[in-house]
Amino acid sequence: MLLKTILWENNRVFILDQRRLPEKEVYIECSEATMVAEAITSLAIRGAPAIGIAAAMGIALGALKIAHRDFPSFYRELIPICDILKRTRPTAINLRWALQRMKGVCEANKEMDVEGIKEHMIREAIAILEEDIETNRMIGEMGKKLIRDGDVILTHCNTGALATGGYGTALGVIRKAWEENKRIKVVATETRPLFQGSRLTVWELKKEGIPLTLITDHMAGYCMQRGDINLVIVGADRIARNGDVANKIGTYTLAVLAMEHGIPFYVAAPISTFDKTIHSGEGIPIEERNGEEITTIFGKRIAPEEIMVYNPAFDITPHRYVSAIVTEKGVIRAPFENALRCIWGEKDDL
Ligand code: MRU
Repeated sequence: MLLKTILWENNRVFILDQRRLPEKEVYIECSEATMVAEAITSLAIRGAPAIGIAAAMGIALGALKIAHRDFPSFYRELIPICDILKRTRPTAINLRWALQRMKGVCEANKEMDVEGIKEHMIREAIAILEEDIETNRMIGEMGKKLIRDGDVILTHCNTGALATGGYGTALGVIRKAWEENKRIKVVATETRPLFQGSRLTVWELKKEGIPLTLITDHMAGYCMQRGDINLVIVGADRIARNGDVANKIGTYTLAVLAMEHGIPFYVAAPISTFDKTIHSGEGIPIEERNGEEITTIFGKRIAPEEIMVYNPAFDITPHRYVSAIVTEKGVIRAPFENALRCIWGEKDDL
């Protein structure tokens, strides 16, 4: 059965609190958009597609609370709620994409009464969740051909059901290969500073019975040098038109290592992760998080007080290190922009 990361029920949003995993499976019940915003900021829900879904549901919750009955006043009150949700995490494009889609639904139905618009918004938010699961399954389908029987696959951070509406992107490709009886093994990096690998990826893989080995982030190079890894597959938070990829801090290091050792480096992401407006990775904003995420572990201080700390949550992997990007529309390779222009309908042929 698919794990439910987030769900809409009786005009409430239920979010599986990922900060508590793997010890406890508890849901946060949100009745206000600001509660969803707080869940996103504090990483109770994380992963690019999952925060997009959360934002869509958050804005639907916000809409329900607006009392105005005329469209202009309703919309005027909706925009600041959208902005609160948009500001929660700057790197993942999915969040903006989902909010844009929700605003589109309002505008397309502005002739309708406000209660009708609210209904449309709820339906759209649920559709975003359901479509994401379908998209992930397609990514798995497209990506499975990259995985051979017996492969040992290194992955970073968490890109599974928890990071999406369900199934996962990079982990979805791994899941699909496993479902097709390929005898694969996964090497998961713990993913400092917040351990999305050791807490979440390992938890998901173990539930599926997929063989796994956990390593610390800095062991990846040694494992590759020994010939222990056949391929690397990761997710993405935003991809520029030229194929430069923003993903969890440490991804760039893995990509450089993979190239040095002649190992394919794949990225799996939905088309909604590509930012049409950004030409290269330099234009992607990188979220900087609180230094306490590094100086403390689960509330216990491990570094001396009053020190300088730098905590970028993501990095940029230049496209030259990316062997291919697996999307729901197919596996695309360099030059990425040409393939994307075809997918976006900006160009008739490759
Ligand atoms: O800070 P996080 O945990 O939200 O970072 C998540 C990642 O970097 C994932 O690799 C990315 O969002 C893709 S999830 C399918």
